[in-house]
Amino acid sequence: MSNPIQAVRGMRDMHPEETPRWVRLEGIARRVLDAYGYREVRLPLLEKTELFRRSIGEVTDIVEKEMYTFEDRNGESLTLRPEGTAGCVRAGIQHGWFQQPGRRLWYLGPMFRHERPQQGRYRQFHQIGVEAYGMPGPDIDAELILLSARLWRELGVEDVRLELNTLGDPADRGAYRKRLVDYFEARHDALDEDSRRRLHGNPLRILDSKNPAMQGLIENAPRLGEHVGAECRAHFEALQETLRKAGVDFVVNPRLVRGLDYYNRTVFEWVTDRLGAQGTVCAGGRYDGLVEQLGGRATPAVGFAMGLERLLALLGDAWGGERSAADVYLVMVGEAAERAGPVLAERLRGAVPRLRLLVHCGGGSFKSQFKRADRSGARLALVLGEEEARTGRVSVKPLREAGGQSELEQSDLADYLAKTLYSGAAE
Ligand code: HAM
Repeated sequence: MSNPIQAVRGMRDMHPEETPRWVRLEGIARRVLDAYGYREVRLPLLEKTELFRRSIGEVTDIVEKEMYTFEDRNGESLTLRPEGTAGCVRAGIQHGWFQQPGRRLWYLGPMFRHERPQQGRYRQFHQIGVEAYGMPGPDIDAELILLSARLWRELGVEDVRLELNTLGDPADRGAYRKRLVDYFEARHDALDEDSRRRLHGNPLRILDSKNPAMQGLIENAPRLGEHVGAECRAHFEALQETLRKAGVDFVVNPRLVRGLDYYNRTVFEWVTDRLGAQGTVCAGGRYDGLVEQLGGRATPAVGFAMGLERLLALLGDAWGGERSAADVYLVMVGEAAERAGPVLAERLRGAVPRLRLLVHCGGGSFKSQFKRADRSGARLALVLGEEEARTGRVSVKPLREAGGQSELEQSDLADYLAKTLYSGAAE
C-alpha cells in the first residue's frame, strides 16, 4: 500500500459530527440577516490577482505574502480569494448592483490565506461577510454593528467586546501619514525590519506591529484621532451615540487600524480574550473609496466579516449538540425482507414529512443490526424479518425509552411514525 495522501497544511476537514454545528450557525445567521433585509450573493472563489492588489493594497501582509496566486493555463494570474469584499465590489460594478441605492448584501464561504497555521488561524477558513452600499451616514454603520450584536445574542456568544476607531477621510489620512513618516524617520534606528519596509509604502501598518520592542515607539507616535476632520468626527460621534442609546457597549481604540488598505472613517472589531492570539472574531468598517477605485461610480460602502472557525471555537464544543444520523433505523433480516425493506422505506419517506429513516444495508444478524441501530442514535428500530415480510407486518422497538417491542400492519406505519415522532413543533 502506498503512503496515504494527507490534507494540505492549514486546510481542515470538517467531520460528520461537526457539520450540524456549522449548519446551525449558518441557519441562525441567515435568519438574522434576513430580519434586516440583507440578501445573499454567491461569488467565485477565484478572481484576477489584480483585483486584490488594487483593493487590499500592495503593501499589506495579505498581498505581500499570504495569497494563493498562480497562473492558469492561459497564463493569466489568478488568486484564491483571501477575503470577500473585493469580489463583492467587483461583482457589483460588473452587474450594476449599486445602481439601486441601499444595497444590502451578504455571503458565506471559504477564504484562503497562506498564514502560519495555529489555533484559530487556518489557510482555508470561512467567513460570513455583510456589505452595505450607497449609504453614507452613520445610521448604516450602526445598523451593521447592531446586527452583529444581535447575532451574538442569538448564538449565545459571550465574552466579546467591541472596539471602534475612525480612520478619517483620505485627506486626513494623507496629513497624518506624513506626520507619521516624519516621526518614524527621525527614529529610523529603532525600527525593526518590517517597519522599515512599511515606512514609505504603508506607515499606518507600523502601528499594528506586534513586536514588543516596537511598542514604546508606537505608544508615543502621533495619533490619527488628532488629524480627523470635523465631518468625520461628527460621523463617529453620531455612531457612538446610537450605540449608547441601543445599549451596545464599546471602547474606542485609537490604535485600531485594520490590515487592509481600503478602509476610511469607521473601523471596528469584535474581540475576545478567550482564543489566545487569534482573538478577533469579526471585523470591518467603511470603505467609501473602493467602488470608484475599482472602476465603478463613487458609492459609499461599509461592511464586516466574521470568522466562523473562531466563532465556533468561542461557542465551545457543546454548542449545537450532537445530531443523530436518523430517527428511525430499519433492521432487515432474510432475503425477502432485504428486498421488501427498501420499498417500504421509500413509501414511508414519501408519506411522513420530515422522516429521517436509515435503512440497514449489508446484511448481518439481528444482534449486529441492533447494535448499529443503537449507535446511529435513532429513537426507533423497525424490524422486518422473514415472518413480517410474508405477513405485511412490521415490529417496532423503542431504542431510547423503556417499552417492549410491538407489532403493526405496514399500512399503519406512516401514521404511527408521524404521530410518535413528529407531532410536536418543527425542530
Ligand atoms: P479581516 O479582518 O481580514 O477582514 O477578516 C475578518 C475575520 O475573518 C477576522 O476577524 C477573523 O475572524 C477571520 N479570519 C481572518 N483570517 C483568518 C484565518 N487565517 N483563519 C481563521 N479566521 C480568519 C476582512 O476579511 C474584510 N473583508 C472584512 C470586511 C467586510 N470589511 C468590510 N467588509
